[in-house]
Amino acid sequence: MDKIVIQGGNPLRGSVEISGAKNAALPIIAACLLTGGWHRLNRVPRLRDIHTIRRIMEKLGTVFRDQDNVLEVNSDNLFLHKAPYELVKTMRASILLLGPLLARYGRAEISLPGGCAIGARPVNLHLKALAAMGADITLDHGYINARAKRLKGAEIFFDIPTVTGTENIMMAAVTAHGRTLLKNAAKEPEIQDLAKMLRAMGADIEGDGTDSIVINGVDALAACEHTVIPDRIEAGTFMIAAAMTRGEVEVLGCRPDHLTGLMEKLASTGARIVPQGDRVTVKGPDPVESVDIKTMPYPGFPTDLQAQFMALMCIAKDWSMIRETVFENRFIHVSELRRMGAEIDINGNQALVKGKGELLSAPVMATDLRASASLLLAGLVAKGGNTEVQRIYHLDRGYEAIEKKFRELGAAIWREQT
Ligand code: UD1
Repeated sequence: MDKIVIQGGNPLRGSVEISGAKNAALPIIAACLLTGGWHRLNRVPRLRDIHTIRRIMEKLGTVFRDQDNVLEVNSDNLFLHKAPYELVKTMRASILLLGPLLARYGRAEISLPGGCAIGARPVNLHLKALAAMGADITLDHGYINARAKRLKGAEIFFDIPTVTGTENIMMAAVTAHGRTLLKNAAKEPEIQDLAKMLRAMGADIEGDGTDSIVINGVDALAACEHTVIPDRIEAGTFMIAAAMTRGEVEVLGCRPDHLTGLMEKLASTGARIVPQGDRVTVKGPDPVESVDIKTMPYPGFPTDLQAQFMALMCIAKDWSMIRETVFENRFIHVSELRRMGAEIDINGNQALVKGKGELLSAPVMATDLRASASLLLAGLVAKGGNTEVQRIYHLDRGYEAIEKKFRELGAAIWREQT
């Protein structure tokens, strides 16, 4: 198993190119199940999660060709409709195969994703919506078994704006009979990217990016070419890293308009933020002002950047309050940050952080994807020796070549085998 070792103290300087968004690429690859022909997907990040969805789809009969960040996908000959437990347990987003498989083949069998480190994360809203569209859904031996001759359009209200739920139902609805109206839909940019791809395939979708999406079912779709949007969470992670190390970093190839929630908060810490076209320059503050944040569905402050921002608040000069409203148990990085000298009190979904101006190196353990990123950031500024981050397979799920990118910005960071 690999670990990452960081010798903290170097301010990050220079520029970094942002990869394609993992959370956009996953539903977009799943959408290739909706029709035959060769799809060509550009700017697909090379990540463990992408590899996982690919492995499941290969088991179903999908064929892939890839070169660098271009992925070609062909689902002409599917012979299986089942996503097995062994793979689904490593990536909850496998649930994204349910909608397209049901739409194209009228049946799907997907292992029910279990809970995960950051909460119970049920998929009840996905299933309720599919049932409203006429699917017959049963749970057998840990598997979701779904069948439908042809899904029919329906009016669906999501109790909670769910990102993968909205994506799953959009994919199910594109070839359904009639009109589907999604109310209280999620508004994340990744949903707009999926809608753009589906439109390129011939789908009739309007309203994506708002909480009300209308999909008129069409009879046929065709393979298309699509370029995945830049990863706003990766971009945000580098922006926070620049601020933390009091460096100056130009984040290239990103979408500043997808990062407004973060940019506003970073500016309040005293960082200088200059968005321009497809880049944002971040100059770190000194000292770091404490700022309260509350995670919210898009366009609010993203839960996927909460752990990284908390690391920044640990080196601020005062108290800050971090409220997590999206997931019920997303503070597991706190105990690891405490090992690095952080002072954080948790009360329910609120974390009170006492900024101490510094963090100290320590051996720490990554617990989930974004928690691992926060530990890396903490390591970049930690004083008193090297920080070792174990279990970094979490990190490899969602960050492309992260230690190489940090090294190119001047960080002393490397990977070792344990
Ligand atoms: C997606 C992202 C993840 C991000 C999250 C919130 C992908 C692959 N993952 O996850 O990185 O952290 O959005 O921005 O895109 N819920 C239910 N029932 C459901 C579905 C969701 O109660 O059927 C709840 C969840 O437990 C959570 C909230 O709704 O509390 C939002 O979750 P959701 O938007 O569905 O997250 P994911 O799509 O799993």
